Amino acid sequence: MAITVRDSKFILKTDNTAWILRIAEGYLESLYYGADVPDCDLEYLVNTQILNFAPYDADLGLKYIYGARLYLYSGANSGDFRTPACDVVDQNGYTGCRFSYAGYEILPETPADFAMPKIRGGGETLKILLTDRDKKIDAELYFQPAEDCDAFVRYARIVNRSGGVVSLKKAASLQLDFDNGRFDLLSVAGAPGDEMRNLRRPVTQGKAEISSRFGVTGHSANPFFALCAPSATEDAGECYGFNLLYSGNFKNEIECDCHGCVRVVSGISDENFFWTLKDGDSFYTPQAVCVFSEEGIGGMSRRFHRLCREHVIPPRYKDTRPVVANTWESFYFTVDEDKVRAFAKKAKEIGADTVVLDDGWFRNEDNENLGDWEPDSRRFPSGLGKLVEAVKAEGLNFGLWFEPEMISRRSKLFKAHPEWLLQNGDKGSESRNQYVLDMANPAVVDHVFGVMAAYLSRYDISYVKWDMNRYLSEVGSGCLSNQGEASHRYALGVYALLERITEEFGVLVEGCAGGGGRFDLGMLYYEPMIWLSDNTDPYNRTEIQFGAATAYPPCALSYHFSKGEGTSGKPSGPYFRMLAANFACFGYELDLTKLSGEEIAACRAFTEKRRSYDKYVLGGDFYKLDADGKYYYACLQVLKDRSAALLTFIQVDAQIRYESLVLRLKGLKSDARYKVGESGLVLYGRTLEKAGVRISDLLCPHWKEEDPSRIALKAGKAGSGIAFEIVEVKD
Ligand code: DGJ
Repeated sequence: MAITVRDSKFILKTDNTAWILRIAEGYLESLYYGADVPDCDLEYLVNTQILNFAPYDADLGLKYIYGARLYLYSGANSGDFRTPACDVVDQNGYTGCRFSYAGYEILPETPADFAMPKIRGGGETLKILLTDRDKKIDAELYFQPAEDCDAFVRYARIVNRSGGVVSLKKAASLQLDFDNGRFDLLSVAGAPGDEMRNLRRPVTQGKAEISSRFGVTGHSANPFFALCAPSATEDAGECYGFNLLYSGNFKNEIECDCHGCVRVVSGISDENFFWTLKDGDSFYTPQAVCVFSEEGIGGMSRRFHRLCREHVIPPRYKDTRPVVANTWESFYFTVDEDKVRAFAKKAKEIGADTVVLDDGWFRNEDNENLGDWEPDSRRFPSGLGKLVEAVKAEGLNFGLWFEPEMISRRSKLFKAHPEWLLQNGDKGSESRNQYVLDMANPAVVDHVFGVMAAYLSRYDISYVKWDMNRYLSEVGSGCLSNQGEASHRYALGVYALLERITEEFGVLVEGCAGGGGRFDLGMLYYEPMIWLSDNTDPYNRTEIQFGAATAYPPCALSYHFSKGEGTSGKPSGPYFRMLAANFACFGYELDLTKLSGEEIAACRAFTEKRRSYDKYVLGGDFYKLDADGKYYYACLQVLKDRSAALLTFIQVDAQIRYESLVLRLKGLKSDARYKVGESGLVLYGRTLEKAGVRISDLLCPHWKEEDPSRIALKAGKAGSGIAFEIVEVKD
């Protein structure tokens, strides 16, 4: 049973973890969360020491000191000085709240009125009712085990029963307290073009914050973070991972108090957040997910990957992704109908299945026409209809770029509806020559839907690239009386639009926000893959992808083979650029019409090869192999039944001593025998794990430059690598 209720305790289990909650003296407390344990009566763990200077329950006295207990949802201004999960301004203007236990219910699934991205197929849910008895404000806490992923889904609903109007200043999705928490904090930090760097630092007394006030999750931080045992490695040690199914401003707070208690609070950012609740109104927080792994950071990553693959991305894309040929880096703003027609012919030749017409189809430069969405008559004289037909006639699908949330000052829409801009009374800032539409306004969402729907219903379009090229500033909405709701309502408006577009037209939406500016589980709920970065330099991209894979599965990362003239400044051959595609969804983004016959043939061979790897990329378990993250990166993608795996080795920097090296594999069946690439070796899984394989010419004895499956590994040279399969041999 995933949820058991017994002796004033709630016992929540996944395949390998347990979370034990108890009701004590009328309060809900966390007794234990971590690896599964056979005992549940863990009251002996409760800290009963008397803390100096610490407030206690006025009726219970010193035996109940708030600061010593581990809670699940603490109110502000209530005697527990640690970071609160919730803060309320009541009818009299007083702030703060204190929640005590008031009952529970077991629901068969997520409540039907929860209208945000959610874990799919989530089953039984424990709903615990907490209440502030004086203020008559409830906090319903939801706990949903995702057993197969060792994950718990957490969210809350705040209900106002006070008889008057109250305001929420803060409403987090998750709070988790650890006694004696000695952890490292692992997070993801980056910048446009340099997304998803992993950052590890010790948790010390004080507070760390990982947050966004960009209006979207942003390039520089990500809602994912983890608390790892200081000794935890990629393969061993305890690791708690956290993430949010949310795409707007978020705040993750990790606080270590003077007694060594570590509190995690995660949810919507409380900055500029102020939500009005009339009597009887309620507010759902977004869902948070936490996973626990005893198998190090890699174990945590694989649990998150499974969760994302099986329970987040739209199920219809579980086993399939298109191979895209995108016009952006091919033509930028010079794209025109003739070029796309010629491009499509070559796209067919290289084995792509979808041509995506990126930015430029409705404008000459980036300072005009956003919001109008009319094809540029100079370059697309017959509109898009004939072009779509021509692409379809090649046997390809057609995809179209939109930036639905944006508007140019130089547009008809700007003149017609200046009140549709996100604005707060200030003159507003421009960014990339554009402004943001007020997606908090349902009329704006309806309008944008209408514009996109006109294209999607008129033409045979199966793919939308949904871009967003600026952050939200001067946030405010003309349709709201309480501007503290604008940011969250913006996110809800975007979700509503995505929901309608994907449901009514069945199109695949590839997410993008100037690269990875909105890469999160909230978007992945609608978008099976997100363009991870505008940096397509294969050296940089490899590092970015490995960083992203700490939290997100390869099937969610979108990457295109490009010209390769990248920011690393290092030359890269075509096969090296292709190698990076082994752990991402793959496409092409260069002027295919300029490729020679030989290059086209090589691309075609690679497309075929890469498609045969889909089973590893879309469904495999991802293991980072002894990656030093400096000179080389290596990974193994292992099929669920562990009958085969794909090894990818990429050398990003020159280092003579890696001319030939031994890699130890992971995740295979110890007692099964595997054929190792074309080396002629057949070895037990245990041998491959313990003794490893030597990456050298042995594995590619007959390599030929044009054969992408056998890239020469030349004496520690940057820009080299190899990919090969390891397949179980049955006698
Ligand atoms: C930013 C995206 O990341 C690019 O791929 C491209 O679509 C441009 N926007 C177009 O303006």
